[in-house]
Amino acid sequence: MRIISQPADLPVRESASRGLVPTMGYLHEGHLELIRRAAAENEEVAVSIFVNPLQFGPGEDYRTYPRDLERDARLAESAGASWIFHPSPEVMYPPGFATTVHVGGPLTERWEGERRPGHFDGVATVVTKLFNLVRPDRAYFGEKDFQQLQVVRRFTADLNLGVEIVPVPIVREPDGLARSSRNVYLTAEERPRATVLYRALLAVREAARRGASPAEAVEAGEKVLASVPEFVPDYLAVVHPGTLEPLSSWVPGARAIVAGRFPTVRLIDNMEVWDR
Ligand code: PAF
Repeated sequence: MRIISQPADLPVRESASRGLVPTMGYLHEGHLELIRRAAAENEEVAVSIFVNPLQFGPGEDYRTYPRDLERDARLAESAGASWIFHPSPEVMYPPGFATTVHVGGPLTERWEGERRPGHFDGVATVVTKLFNLVRPDRAYFGEKDFQQLQVVRRFTADLNLGVEIVPVPIVREPDGLARSSRNVYLTAEERPRATVLYRALLAVREAARRGASPAEAVEAGEKVLASVPEFVPDYLAVVHPGTLEPLSSWVPGARAIVAGRFPTVRLIDNMEVWDR
């Protein structure tokens, strides 16, 4: 697998279509699904592996974020990647770097934006740079980071970046836990209890199907969250799938979103709870 670390070495576009799968590495089945989908829809597939310091806040896990480039290269190749772009932080942010892409408004003010100030600026800045460097036709993002997906759609449209954003459904473990590179932080005791996010989302969806209002459905989900005392919820809400504004009545595609902390790790998840 070709691993490119310098922008000057990025292959000149000769293929009919180029897909990009932006990642921070430590690939899991969720990433491999993105790569497979990109390989099915494009002649050439670039995978970027870059743990982006700009999107980590103080006290977050930038230094300890899991990294294993050799394993990632093997997995990416097996899923159909053509090459990997793996720049260093100095290449992405050389001395004098002073530009930030900021998506304003309610989309970035709530939920993850509120709990992780600056996070979406970091994501928007690095993804814009990756688009400009790799020049893909399409880019693939997991629905697990649902707010991130909407933020990426927003700045890609606002800045006329000319990249088609392709959402890919969440890949779950057999017991329902959404795949995430950070799941490795869970202790053996926490791991089975970490399904509480998924179970809470199912409770919201079931309540919705029984005729509950969004507020009543959230209450049903909160009861499930409360059954695992070591999980401290940050939020559980039913939101509009495009704006992420909280809903007081159902709309097609309404999403339940949830986030919170176990002692060792913060987890997020989401689910469509009202059909499109
Ligand atoms: O979702 C991620 O892994 C990251 O936020 C991304 C999109 C690769 C930007 O660093």
